[in-house]
Amino acid sequence: MSNEAHGSVTMTLDESNKSLSLPLRLGTIGPSVADISKIYGTLGVFTYDPGYGMTASCESKITYIDGDAGILLHRGYPIDQLAEHSSFLEVAYLLLNGELPTAKERHDFEYGVMRHTMLHEQLRRFFDGFRRDAHPMAVLCGVVGALSAFYHDSLDINDPEHRRISAFRLIAKLPTIAAWAYKYTIGQPFMYPRNDLGYAENFLYMMNAVPAEPYKVSPVLARAMDRIFILHADHEQNASTSTVRLAGSTGANPFACIAAGIASLWGPAHGGANEAVLKMLADIGHKDNIPDFIEKVKDKDSHVRLMGFGHRVYKNYDPRAKIMERTCHEVLAELGIKDDPLLDMAMELERIARHDEYFISKKLYPNVDFYSGIILKAMGFPTSMFTVLFAVARTVGWISQWKEMIEDPSQRIGRPRQVYTGSPQRDFTPLDARS
Ligand code: CMC
Repeated sequence: MSNEAHGSVTMTLDESNKSLSLPLRLGTIGPSVADISKIYGTLGVFTYDPGYGMTASCESKITYIDGDAGILLHRGYPIDQLAEHSSFLEVAYLLLNGELPTAKERHDFEYGVMRHTMLHEQLRRFFDGFRRDAHPMAVLCGVVGALSAFYHDSLDINDPEHRRISAFRLIAKLPTIAAWAYKYTIGQPFMYPRNDLGYAENFLYMMNAVPAEPYKVSPVLARAMDRIFILHADHEQNASTSTVRLAGSTGANPFACIAAGIASLWGPAHGGANEAVLKMLADIGHKDNIPDFIEKVKDKDSHVRLMGFGHRVYKNYDPRAKIMERTCHEVLAELGIKDDPLLDMAMELERIARHDEYFISKKLYPNVDFYSGIILKAMGFPTSMFTVLFAVARTVGWISQWKEMIEDPSQRIGRPRQVYTGSPQRDFTPLDARS
């Protein structure tokens, strides 16, 4: 962002008639931002922005979203071109380093990531401490947090080489931890990673293979998995990424920061939404029940939402949702599923919602999660694993954003303010005087 002001906004405080000129700063594309850093010092007031919908918390060169136009760019490249022509590890390189790799850089990066896929054997024993019915997100949170206890040689956040190795370790080990979290819940032996396979292929292998027989991953499903990873790789300053940045702003180590991001991702308004879409479809039960369900969604008192619809930033079709819908058809064809009642219901829900004034006026369109659950279910993933897959893919976005923040000379500890609405100062009341 240029430090030069491109115009200004004037803020005047009615009571004192004091004014402050807020310089407008320009990004490469997108709206300009008013720099409010001097407001408190000059006018003695803070700004109030619950949910941070109007606040740019940082400067970033990684991802750009135009929510009104339905555009998502990573380092300037449109998501549909990346999903069509690139691979997850190439996108990972792009997010981390800013440019697409040359053939040699790509080879070295893939080789480097795939040589960090194993976990410390002692970490394997960690899994035994969990109940068999633990949610895999609980296991993921715990085990990723514990990585910082195992890799002391890459915890110095001020050392670029430590940051690089931590990034490799996180991107490489997340699929292993995720697959083992799943194997643990179903009581099957852990499958060790195979570094001769591609990233997504190796993940599907660790999820589905057993030591007793050979297992070949379908190339169509490996490609679909890889594309799903690309679609989830980064999404600028969403809740989990902001959590990672906030945790990282204190100087916490990257493994702890990513564990914080995983915790933030878990909620149904964020990464848990595709799991919630499938639950919603199961609750609806049949296409005939859709009109009644839509009426319920429109009734504010019911507190029912059309899951997989709506987005804080997209007020248009989420570009990831279109690719996801296409991938859904490809996967179902590969698996020989001709009529999938869930897909039928989802398409009918989308058709009705896209013609309904409630959704049109509120600009509610399908988001990335609307179709992803159907694909993942068809691929054999239990719903409890959906958010885990999101976390595996988003790890590269989180670590790229964390790295960018650490390398930003203007970075300070994140510390929002508040409007205090509690009791004014009062004296302590002794117990026998309280009513
Ligand atoms: N179904 C019905 N009404 C909705 C929905 C929905 N899915 N989403 C928003 N609305 C209504 C909401 O009731 C509100 O109405 P009103 O103005 O009358 O009060 C209006 O639209 C604005 O909603 P909001 O909650 O203020 O919007 P937000 O930006 O705070 O929330 C959201 C964004 C994604 C949390 C929300 O749209 C939602 O809950 N969607 C369903 C959950 C979901 O699919 N989440 C995945 C998001 S994409 C993946 C990711 O980034 O993690």
